[in-house]
Amino acid sequence: MSIIKASEFKKRRKQIAKIIGADSIAIIKAKDVCIRNGDADYKYRPDSHYYYLTGCHEADSLMVICPDNEAGEDILFCREIDLNNVIWNGPMLGSDAAKEDLEFDCSYDIKSLDNIIPQLMNGRDKVYFMLGEDTDFDKKIVQWTNKVKKNKWAKSQAPHELIALKSFLDDMRVYKSKDEIRCMQKAADIAAAAHIQMMKVCKPGLFEYNLNAEFLKSITNENSQASYLPIIGGGSNACILHYINNNHELKNGDLVLIDAGAEYGYYASDITRTFPVNGQYSKEQAELYNIVLAAHTAAVNKVEPGNHWNEPHEAAVRVITQGLLDLGLLKGDFETLIKGQSYAHFYMHKTGHWLGLDVHDCGEYSIDGLWVELEANMVLTIEPGIYIGDNAKVPSKYKGIGIRIEDDVLVTKNGHKILSNKVPRTIKEIEAIMRKPV
Ligand code: GLY
Ligand code: MN
Ligand code: MN
Repeated sequence: MSIIKASEFKKRRKQIAKIIGADSIAIIKAKDVCIRNGDADYKYRPDSHYYYLTGCHEADSLMVICPDNEAGEDILFCREIDLNNVIWNGPMLGSDAAKEDLEFDCSYDIKSLDNIIPQLMNGRDKVYFMLGEDTDFDKKIVQWTNKVKKNKWAKSQAPHELIALKSFLDDMRVYKSKDEIRCMQKAADIAAAAHIQMMKVCKPGLFEYNLNAEFLKSITNENSQASYLPIIGGGSNACILHYINNNHELKNGDLVLIDAGAEYGYYASDITRTFPVNGQYSKEQAELYNIVLAAHTAAVNKVEPGNHWNEPHEAAVRVITQGLLDLGLLKGDFETLIKGQSYAHFYMHKTGHWLGLDVHDCGEYSIDGLWVELEANMVLTIEPGIYIGDNAKVPSKYKGIGIRIEDDVLVTKNGHKILSNKVPRTIKEIEAIMRKPV
């Protein structure tokens, strides 16, 4: 059972029908099951665009939107229920439930695609699909159009334009509905509790994977899974931006950076906290941490309707540059350092990304060279950081420190709401949590 109601998926399909118009057909196929190794599969997770339109969790299915089609505008092709398969793999959707539960007008056996799709294409000018995402499927679309061209039906007319559907879906997905926001709040709450738990159990001598286990235990108990591979970097591992090995010992006196999110109803949270392995920030760690925290606050305060996408980043880099200047880690004139992006030696990524069904969610950041404007119901991350690797040319007391603070922020009508606000962020709050017995 999906958390988003079938009527919402239906509404999205109707919106696509309206966008493409009566001379067109849209076709999206579910992603295939992915083999991990040998004959073992990865757990199936539908492609986000496909799920967004269908609410369907099953592989071997395909959706068609065919505006003004007499037999039905939205059609799901799926597997017929096979009792032998049910014995091995559990319940299947089947055509009846596709209509009753997912609110499709029609549903057919996936095996009938080659017969039915050319008939649905006949008389339409354009085919919208995920052009370029799956070469075999691109070929299939061309084969189906060729079948219409070659058929013997009276008045057959094959589509002559193939159009990428992706950008239309990307634009829709940027704005979250009430129920999507509810899912994202839940995903953030689940991850927040797990982050707090990791703070509570952390101590020198544990390994990064022990915290990973704690995170997974906490979110799994909420019927959730990780929205991406957790990054748990102790000491200078925190400076490896995509560190996922998580196999080093957590040392007394080091910080640990944890970037870990939960997925709920397929919606992601994406949260980072950086705290001391032994429960107390050193002077240098605290100095750098408070710069990142101030950058975070400055960036979050720029999240409001009407501001453009890059304003939070611009605010963050100013705070980070000033902070590094104050500590003597950057030298020179402030505006010249900003212009020359000198902060990039220590802060080499952007301050956020869209968040939704994908952790790096779809949606444009700029159009025709202009940053997009923030609008209510968009969700983005704010995630400034400072990373000083072991080889940086700085006083040794600052070496091997990596800090990021990341939150999930909803743009509201009048400003913003931090969905991940339940995870403490200040030094005082974090140290207080770490002092408490587990
Ligand atoms: N966890 C990936 C990111 O923060 O973008
Ligand atoms: Mn992120
Ligand atoms: Mn992250």
